[in-house]
Amino acid sequence: MKKLLSALSVLIFVTATVAYAIHQVTPAETYVPFPGPHAEAVFKYITAEDPYNRWDLWPGKGKLVKGRPPLDIITTYVNDNALYSIKAGKKTANGSIIVTENYAGGKKLSAVFVMYKIRGYNPPAGDWYWAQYDANGKTVTEGKVGDCIGCHAKMKENDYIFTDKFVR
Ligand code: HEC
Repeated sequence: MKKLLSALSVLIFVTATVAYAIHQVTPAETYVPFPGPHAEAVFKYITAEDPYNRWDLWPGKGKLVKGRPPLDIITTYVNDNALYSIKAGKKTANGSIIVTENYAGGKKLSAVFVMYKIRGYNPPAGDWYWAQYDANGKTVTEGKVGDCIGCHAKMKENDYIFTDKFVR
């Protein structure tokens, strides 16, 4: 009986230790910090560290749908922070990233547009970091881009977002 009890306590101890170790290790190994407002760091993040093609699509939108001008055929992806905010009907949380792929003529990827919410980055224009890449990931433009802001400002009340009115 004593032997059985001590074997049992060893088993419990080992199980608890392993469970504790897994708990300790997993978050540290899977957590990737958000990138700074730099085109290459952001591109690396959205293609390698947390690839956007594994994110959700904008709720209710499909792949390769007809976009409004100046876009052609588009697919819009949202990361978890953005998805949470959209569903909650609130302006997007810090760390929200929205990626829109544009397919010129509907077939060939021609541009990747990114809006990345960084609290404190650009308060007069909704704290968005803007970037546009070509199909090979080369930066076309990035930062507090006046051209992007100028047009998206029409949607200021909707957190500068066109895709869908979600801010309630
Ligand atoms: C002339 C207006 C205009 C300009 C300039 C413009 N956009 Fe947009 N953008 C749109 C419209 C319209 C949509 C929505 C397309 C749709 O879903 O039909 C959009 C969608 C987006 C989206 C998806 C999220 C959203 O707002 O719906 C991103 C990301 C984006 N644009 C980034 C950019 C970036 C980065 C630039 C600058 C390099 C830029 N845009 C310049 C009009 C513009």
